[in-house]
Amino acid sequence: MNMSPHAALSAADALALRYGAEQAPTHGPWNEHIALLLSHRSIRGYRPNLLPEGTLETLIAAAQSAATSSNLQTWSVIAVTDPAKKAELAKLANNQKHIEQCPLFLVWVADVSRNQRLGAQERVELETMPYQETFLVAVIDAALAAQNAVVAAESLGLSTVYIGALRNHPQQVAKVVGLPQGAFGVFGMCIGYAAPTAANEVKPRLPQAVVLHHEIYDTAGEPEHRAAYDHLMAAFSARNEMTADTWTKRVINRMSKIAAMSGRDKMVAALHAMGFPLH
Ligand SMILES: Cc1cc2nc3c(=O)[nH]c(=O)nc-3n(C[C@H](O)[C@H](O)[C@H](O)COP(=O)(O)O)c2cc1C
Repeated sequence: MNMSPHAALSAADALALRYGAEQAPTHGPWNEHIALLLSHRSIRGYRPNLLPEGTLETLIAAAQSAATSSNLQTWSVIAVTDPAKKAELAKLANNQKHIEQCPLFLVWVADVSRNQRLGAQERVELETMPYQETFLVAVIDAALAAQNAVVAAESLGLSTVYIGALRNHPQQVAKVVGLPQGAFGVFGMCIGYAAPTAANEVKPRLPQAVVLHHEIYDTAGEPEHRAAYDHLMAAFSARNEMTADTWTKRVINRMSKIAAMSGRDKMVAALHAMGFPLH
């Protein structure tokens, strides 16, 4: 595997990077696949170099190998390399420059339209189509497939970043990539070779004690664990020139005001218009 150098770290070092030395759990079984997963970080600056031939197809084969609810395979993906189209999508996604820089931009689509067409061709009404559950299944399928592509890309020494901002203008995005009714761009994804200047540090996560519950959900110790994580993230943010220095501030900035949703508060109306009645 042509993995990132971080994937070569020992288990103890990789866990210390992910959680900070004080919060790192003791490790059990370990291998290079787990090391690769722990080395993940989003990259927001790309070199213009094209990907080797066949890379896209390999990534999609990895994506299609993900589990899919009832094997319904309710997702699609649009590969965008045309600079003009990437520029249009970048504009719709809050002008994120990496969308234009990366050689390959993927639009991951929750897609029930294919199965809808199947129903029409077979002259069978698919009664489950308009339900929220069907939409949820499609979103989950798309996300699982996309994450397999991320892992595959990183195993090849490539970098990625998800682009949720594509949901700021879901109907315009649908127009740009020609989505039919019943197809919704869940997020985009930049893929390419990291620019040397792109920040390259593994971002710490919450202590496991906060997210891992044994037998029953337990919030004991949550404020203390959050304080410890804030401390870790403040240092990370200072090193990486991030605006919100603690995780607490990050959550508050992102979740306390509707304006921070960048138009996504209108999502239900957009979905209705895009062929998802959400019964
Ligand atoms: C669904 C989804 C949407 C995201 N959207 C964006 C985005 O629009 N722009 C961006 O720069 N990062 C985006 N990210 C990346 C997250 O900010 C990033 O994963 C998080 O800060 C953790 O950092 P790491 O991936 O480097 O560990 C997104 C991530 C996910 C999972």
